[in-house]
Amino acid sequence: MPTLTSLLNDRFAAALTAAFGEDFSDRDPVIRSSQFADFQANVALPLAKELKSKPRDVAATIVENLDLDGVCAPPEISGPGFINLTFLPEFLATALETGDATAVDAPATPQTVVIDYSAPNVAKEMHVGHLRTTVVGDALARTHEYLGDTVIRQNHIGDWGTPFGMLIEHLLDVGIGETTEAEIASDPNSFYQAARVKFDGDEDFATRARARVVALQGGDADTLALWDTLVGYSKTYFNSIYSLLDVTLRDADLAGESTYNDDLADVCDELEAKGLAWISDGALCVFPDGYKGRDGEPLPLIIRKSDGGYGYATTDLAAVRRRARDLHADRVLYVVGAPQALHFEMVFATARAAGWIPDGTILEHVKIGNVLGSDGKILRTRSGAPLRLAALLEEAVARAKVTLEDSSADFAPGEEDEVAAIVGIGAVKYADLSVAHDTSYTFDLDRMLAPIGNTAPYLQYAGARIRSILRRADAEDGTRAFATAPIVLGEPAERDLALAILGFPDVVAEVAAGSVPHRMAAYLFDLAQSFTAFYEQCPVLVADTPELRNSRLRLSATVLEVLEAGLGVLGIRVPERM
Ligand code: ARG
Repeated sequence: MPTLTSLLNDRFAAALTAAFGEDFSDRDPVIRSSQFADFQANVALPLAKELKSKPRDVAATIVENLDLDGVCAPPEISGPGFINLTFLPEFLATALETGDATAVDAPATPQTVVIDYSAPNVAKEMHVGHLRTTVVGDALARTHEYLGDTVIRQNHIGDWGTPFGMLIEHLLDVGIGETTEAEIASDPNSFYQAARVKFDGDEDFATRARARVVALQGGDADTLALWDTLVGYSKTYFNSIYSLLDVTLRDADLAGESTYNDDLADVCDELEAKGLAWISDGALCVFPDGYKGRDGEPLPLIIRKSDGGYGYATTDLAAVRRRARDLHADRVLYVVGAPQALHFEMVFATARAAGWIPDGTILEHVKIGNVLGSDGKILRTRSGAPLRLAALLEEAVARAKVTLEDSSADFAPGEEDEVAAIVGIGAVKYADLSVAHDTSYTFDLDRMLAPIGNTAPYLQYAGARIRSILRRADAEDGTRAFATAPIVLGEPAERDLALAILGFPDVVAEVAAGSVPHRMAAYLFDLAQSFTAFYEQCPVLVADTPELRNSRLRLSATVLEVLEAGLGVLGIRVPERM
């Protein structure tokens, strides 16, 4: 079954052709949700301008040619020329009976989507900023996979650069082994800070550290082995956070900055040879068109420092070249903090100017906004240090456990802890995903864990409640006969719920097209509210007739499927009980 909007789009294309000719068949009918109907089509307004006619007249001509028999009630024209569309309950019922509510239209040609996300730095704590890039990136990866695209995850960790001299020397001082690995895993910042303090205060140490950087860059085997050990300890730490967060990143997805070391000289040479880079103040720079500093002078993207070293920009140029050339990306999503916007614009402009990016390949910075504390500033601990992500997540789980104390569910032994993890982590992830990714939000566990409102627990509770209804039905008759029962949409709340369910595939496509996971969150919240209204107004287990009971059980089961699928693409689970 086509999605609701693709069905309407097709019918409008036919009507526009019949009314105005072949040239008009590909006009966007501008279908939007409406307060006064299920949808409204606004195409008559732009069309009237072009045809030099009155919008209401154009709308009337479209409606005359519009074949929605068996789909919608006769369309009504309102306001300046909106065409109001209301689905027939019988149509919605048939759509639910014959289709799989969680199925999506397979893309005509699946895309290869490279997603650069999470990207924490070695021997440093992942901060809440990384929480957001991790959670949003993972939701986008899951969404594209759900649609049938090929997803290549790239975890561009910071695993190279001058700090590694002091980090390796500090590693030698404290000793290789489980104790240090555990220290890095539990508090990477203290490791980094300790190295920093020595570097700033101890001349001998600083000299060793500088020599170590030279050895590292020179490819000295012993130094590389030490570096590898250090990166390995950090991987253990990242993986512990990823597993706590239920995130799909694996070691195979790691493509840290060091991955591109051997490409950097070549990137510089190529850009120089193409006349895109030249020496300015001793450094090799690219000056992408259109970027000017405050003084009005062209803005440089430094690709080789005057001391011969390469930096963040060079690495990103090498990475984007490989993503296009070797990974054959159709689209690359960079899920990275908004403050890096200019960096990415300049990198993308340079890559395009160099001819590395085929026409039609999309490079997109999915800008991530800040996470704020209750004081409106970037979230930190009271002492001003960046907050430990693990501590934050543990607190969320602990608080979720407290909220479960009021639950009437009879948990199996150990189940409560499992549910607390699903709810606590789900709440944090959902709070992140339910706001537009480029706006900031305030980290507030109380609000995130609230049982009512646009929160994970509200949605998870709706799911758990349906599970409980289905368990009760199964206890009477385990055959699930209702799964194929006819759907009856007599009550307005039933019709609303059916319409909400059928909106799912459109939303998955919208999330992928615009990189907007918060649209899925808004959809699921709306679905859960429709379910709550339905459940209040329409008795399910004690419905008047067996037919009605089966129809309502089937509707409820379908809501659960959609909730699970929708929360699933956001990386959030629905507990059995809560
Ligand atoms: N490690 C960087 C940071 O913590 C983020 C890297 C993002 N990805 C990229 N291709 N630059 O800010």
